[in-house]
Amino acid sequence: MNEKKIMNQTIEKMLVHASVRDFKAEPLPAQTKDLLLKAAQSGASSNFIQAYSIIEVADVNLRREIAKISGSDAYVNQTGVFYVFVADWYRQAQILRAENKDVKALRNMEALTVAIVDTTIAAQNMTVAAESMGLGICYIGGIRNDTSKVAELLNLPELTLPLFGLTIGLPNSRNEVKPRLPKANILSVNGYNHESLTDLSTYNEQTAEYYANRSHHQKSTNWSQEMSDFLTNPRREDLTDFLKKQGFTLD
Ligand SMILES: Cc1cc2nc3c(=O)[nH]c(=O)nc-3n(C[C@H](O)[C@H](O)[C@H](O)COP(=O)(O)O)c2cc1C
Repeated sequence: MNEKKIMNQTIEKMLVHASVRDFKAEPLPAQTKDLLLKAAQSGASSNFIQAYSIIEVADVNLRREIAKISGSDAYVNQTGVFYVFVADWYRQAQILRAENKDVKALRNMEALTVAIVDTTIAAQNMTVAAESMGLGICYIGGIRNDTSKVAELLNLPELTLPLFGLTIGLPNSRNEVKPRLPKANILSVNGYNHESLTDLSTYNEQTAEYYANRSHHQKSTNWSQEMSDFLTNPRREDLTDFLKKQGFTLD
């Protein structure tokens, strides 16, 4: 079937996603935020655990502190709304403790993984909803530059992890869409095709052209080079200690 025939507005919006890092300083109306939260909550959830909480950082000073930690100050401070997505087993801990049960099922690597997945699905649902309204978004993983401090600022209890922020607002300007990996690099049938999934020659040509010609921050590089530079050293190695402090055993 012709792709045009099955294309729809939802997918059209998804295909032009680009993170926005320049917003109008206009708070989002309450109804818009409520609808975004409903969209977030409508995502699938592993065993219906709904293991996340969303914290709206409305206080200007609090937002400034978190923005500073994130290194993305401009678009965390000046935006429509700023949420922190928290992977959260604390609710279930309360349920279990009320019944004098052990909470060990909430502490291991599997528990942490499903909470992170649930949280991410909720955030991406919110993202798609926001972009469908013509709003722009940027995930802010930079809050994990100092996860302990963010947890302290937000008063987070045990068995929680502030995973990332999400800044949403009316775009002042938009970036170009970044070319994604070719289908041959991400799809393999009936098993992992080592050659096709890792042959990055075409993508490196495409991304070299993109980086050289985009309207901002032009540079001479390609995707493999970017990855190599980015991954020279491990990042945020304090996260393990933070998670243990929060009660995750990671076993
Ligand atoms: C979990 C996550 C964390 C991110 N953290 C940041 C961040 O702290 N600051 C930032 O400017 N962009 C951040 N981004 C945006 C990515 O840099 C961006 O999605 C990526 O470069 C692809 O570009 P695009 O979203 O414009 O297509 C994050 C994205 C994700 C998914």
